[in-house]
Amino acid sequence: MPIVRGRNIEVLFSAETIARRNLELAEEIAAREFHDLLVIAILKGSFIFAADLIRCMHGAGLAPEVEFILISSYGAGTKSGGIRILRDIDASVEGRDVLLIDDILESGNTLAYTRHLALNRGARSVSIAVLLDKRGRRQLDIEAQFVGFACPDRFVVGYGMDVAHTFRELPFVGVVTEQEG
Ligand code: IMP
Ligand code: MG
Repeated sequence: MPIVRGRNIEVLFSAETIARRNLELAEEIAAREFHDLLVIAILKGSFIFAADLIRCMHGAGLAPEVEFILISSYGAGTKSGGIRILRDIDASVEGRDVLLIDDILESGNTLAYTRHLALNRGARSVSIAVLLDKRGRRQLDIEAQFVGFACPDRFVVGYGMDVAHTFRELPFVGVVTEQEG
């Protein structure tokens, strides 16, 4: 088990497993024939997933525009709170097919909020790609069209995801277990 910051990390999805799934996701996205595609990565948690997925999308023949929105939903803890836009996108979404990329779909609050935002601004369609789907935690009626993996109901870190701003650098997704030795 990898040890980081003196904590054991149980690996749930390895770097190799994620890389293979990203290639498949990109093919699934390419098969949809989106028009004037604008990808919006929801920061901060999606930054590694988005970086890998959009490169796989290039490999699948896509040439999307890429934007970033910085949304705060958790603060530094692990409980869901209010949603705020800390940094908005610059591009217009009017008449375009938008693909939102996020790390986890959990309650659905973050993605429902961002989806409404894009639709209210005139997006032609809004689709959602997430690395992980924590379906058991859903509070709103929202689904992702592209899902990397179903996620067990555990707090995961790595591959961009954090607990109190730590562990984002891990190249895999894991769960922090007990203190080491
Ligand atoms: P939702 O708004 O409840 O769907 O939460 C989605 C956001 O919460 C994600 O974009 C993540 O940033 C964060 N989140 C939810 N579950 C986890 C987790 O297990 N680890 C790290 N971040 C999480
Ligand atoms: Mg997030």
